[in-house]
Amino acid sequence: MDQKEIVQRIDFLINELNKHNHNYYNLSKSLISDYEFDSLLLELQGLEKMYPQFAHIDSPTQRVGGDIQKSFTTVKHRYRMLSLGNTYSKEDLQDFDQRVRKEIEGNIEYICELKYDGLAIGIQYQNGIMTQAVTRGDGSQGDDVTANVKTIRSIPLKLREGDYPADFEIRGEIIMTRSGFAKFNEKRKKLGKQEFANPRNAASGSIKMLDAKEVSKRPLDAYLYYVVGDDLDFTNHYQSLETARQWGFKVSDTARKVNSVEQIFDYINYWDKARNELDFEIDGIVIKVNNFAQQKQLGFTAKSPRWAISYKFKAEQVVAELLSIDYQVGRTGAVTPVANLSPVQLAGTTVKRASLHNADVIKSLDLHIGDFVKVEKGGEIIPKIIAVDLSKRKDNAEEVSFLTNCPECNTELVREEGEAAYYCPNVYQCPPQIKGNIEHFVGRKTMDINMGEATVSALFDKGFVNSVADIYSLGAEQLIQLEGFKQKSVSNLLISIEKSKDIPFEKVLFALGIRYVGETVARKLAQYFENIELLKSATYMELLMVDDIGERIAESLISYFLDAKNIEILERLQNYNLNFEIIRDNETFPKLLQNKTFVVSGKFTQSRDDIKQMIMNFGGKNVSSISSKTDYLLAGDKMGPAKLKKAEKLNITIISEDDFYKMINN
Ligand code: IVH
Repeated sequence: MDQKEIVQRIDFLINELNKHNHNYYNLSKSLISDYEFDSLLLELQGLEKMYPQFAHIDSPTQRVGGDIQKSFTTVKHRYRMLSLGNTYSKEDLQDFDQRVRKEIEGNIEYICELKYDGLAIGIQYQNGIMTQAVTRGDGSQGDDVTANVKTIRSIPLKLREGDYPADFEIRGEIIMTRSGFAKFNEKRKKLGKQEFANPRNAASGSIKMLDAKEVSKRPLDAYLYYVVGDDLDFTNHYQSLETARQWGFKVSDTARKVNSVEQIFDYINYWDKARNELDFEIDGIVIKVNNFAQQKQLGFTAKSPRWAISYKFKAEQVVAELLSIDYQVGRTGAVTPVANLSPVQLAGTTVKRASLHNADVIKSLDLHIGDFVKVEKGGEIIPKIIAVDLSKRKDNAEEVSFLTNCPECNTELVREEGEAAYYCPNVYQCPPQIKGNIEHFVGRKTMDINMGEATVSALFDKGFVNSVADIYSLGAEQLIQLEGFKQKSVSNLLISIEKSKDIPFEKVLFALGIRYVGETVARKLAQYFENIELLKSATYMELLMVDDIGERIAESLISYFLDAKNIEILERLQNYNLNFEIIRDNETFPKLLQNKTFVVSGKFTQSRDDIKQMIMNFGGKNVSSISSKTDYLLAGDKMGPAKLKKAEKLNITIISEDDFYKMINN
C-alpha cells in the first residue's frame, strides 16, 4: 500500500468501526459479528502502530485506555454544575408549578425525563472533538476524568454530523446497566473481590480509577440530558435533546412534553412501575421548563435552577414474614445478622433475605421470629427491614436475641467500646477469618497470587492451608487434588506463588492484614522503618512520629507484634524469602537527605504527596509533627501559625519550597 492507500484504509476502518460502535451502543443494533468487529479493530491497531503519524483522535483504539495516571487534575467548571431541588409528593410539585406560573405569563410546557441514578459528567467538545470530561465535584470544580470517559463506547469521541457549535459542553449521567452490573459483580465475586452494592457505586467507583485500561473493561454507559454553551441555536430544551441525538449522543427517547401537573403525575406513575423493566436504574423523574427564554427568566438559586426540579420515587416496600436469622462472620471477625424472609416480590426481584446490620438494629426493631416485617429496597445489595407490624405478632412469638458465641467456632463474642459490631476474637482458628485473611493476602493489591475465593476455600477445607505462611509450603501433589486443577493450572499457581516473593515490602506489610493498616499506612510504615525488624521493635511513641499514624494504628501494631502466633507466621514468611525490607534504588537518587527528618506543611506548587516522595527518594524521612528531633520544616503557603511558632521555638531550620529544590539539586 502506498501512503495514500494507508491513510484511506485507516480512515475507512475508523469510520466503519465508529459506525458499528454507534449502532451497537446507542441504537442497540448490531450489523456485524463480534469476530468481524474485532478483526477490523486489530487491523486498525496494526496500521496505527506502524504509521502513528496517521492515527486519529477519534480512533476507536483510543477507547482501551493508556498509561496509569498518578492522580486526577482538578478543573474549574466553565459553567457551574448545579444540582436539582427534590420533591416527594404531588403537593410539592404543585408548589413548584405555581412558583413557575407566578413568574411566567402565558403557556408553560414542561419536559419530563428520567432521573438516571449514576454520576454526573460534563463533557467538552471543540470543533466536534471530545476534549475534556470532568466530574461534578463540588459544583464549581471537579476531576478531569477524560481518559476514563473516552473508554465509554456510547460517548462519541468525534461528532457525527450536523451543525454543532464550535465549542460547547454536554452533561449527562454515567451509569452501569443492571445486566452489565450483575455480570461484573459475579466476576468480582469469583475473583474474591468485594462486590459493589449497586450499579451507581460501581459506575462512580469505576470512573474514579486511575487506570483507564481497567475502566475500559467495565460495562459503563452514559445518557446525556443537557447541552450548555454560549452560542447555542436552540429555543427550547426538547429541541436540544433531539439535536444532540443527531450529533451522535445517547439521548433517551423517554422524554415527554407535558402541560400540567396532572400530566407530570401520569408520567411519574407510569415510570414508577415501568422502571423495573429498564436495564438501568432511575431514582426519580426530572421536570424541566422547556422554553429557554422562560428558563432564563426564572434563573437560578445558589444551588439549583428555578426552572427544573426532580421528583424522587419512594422506596418500594413490601411485607414479609421473618422466618429465622442467620449470622455471618467476616474476615475481621465481625458478626453480621441477616434475616431469612418468606419470599416476596420487590422492585422487580424476589427477596428472601434482608440485612439487619448489627445487634442494636435488632433491638430497636424489637424483632420476634414469625413477625410480619416491612422491607424496603435502598441502595444496598440486599434490602433492609424498616418496621414490624406489631398487630400481627403471635402471642408466643420468640424474641430474637443476638448470639453470644461465634456461629463458626463457638468462641464467646466480644463487643469493643464504640464499635457497633460483635466480634469473634478467635482470629487464628475461626474458619471464615482464616479464609478471609488468606483471601486478603493473595489479593491483586497485596501479594497478587492467582488464587480466587473458591481455591482458598478448597485449600482450607482440605486442610492444606491454615495460615498465610502455609501458602508457601504448597506443592503440586496437593494442588492437583483440587477440583478443576490440571497440570497447567497447578504450575501456573505455583509460579504465581513463587513470583509473589518479589512483591515489595510495603505490599507484604499490607498483605499481613494488620487491623487498620491499609495500603497507604503500610506504605508510610515501610518507607519510614525500612524493614520489619525496626518496625517490630518500634515503641508506641516512635510509631506516632510517623506521618499519618495515629493512636489507633499504633495500638494495633503494638498488639500485633506482641502476639506469638503472628511472630511465628512472620518468621516463616521470612524464611520463605518474602521481602521484609525496602529496596532503594541507590543509583537514581543520591542520599542527600540521609537521616534528615522533615515536616512538610502548607501548600506547594506540587502536591504534598509528591514532595514527601522526593524527600524519601533522597533518603529523608517525613514526620507529621514538629519535635526537637525534626531537622527541617518545609513551609508552604497558608501554613498554620502554630507550627511555625513551634519550629521557631525549637530552633528548627525553616525552608521554602525553593530552598528544598536547591538542596536536592545540589
Ligand atoms: S438536569 C441544571 N436531568 O440529578 C440542571 N439531571 O439532583 C442539571 N440527573 O446532578 C441537571 N438525571 O447528576 C438532569 N435527566 C436529568 C437527570 C439529572 C439524573 C442527576 C444529575 C444532577 C442530579 C440533581
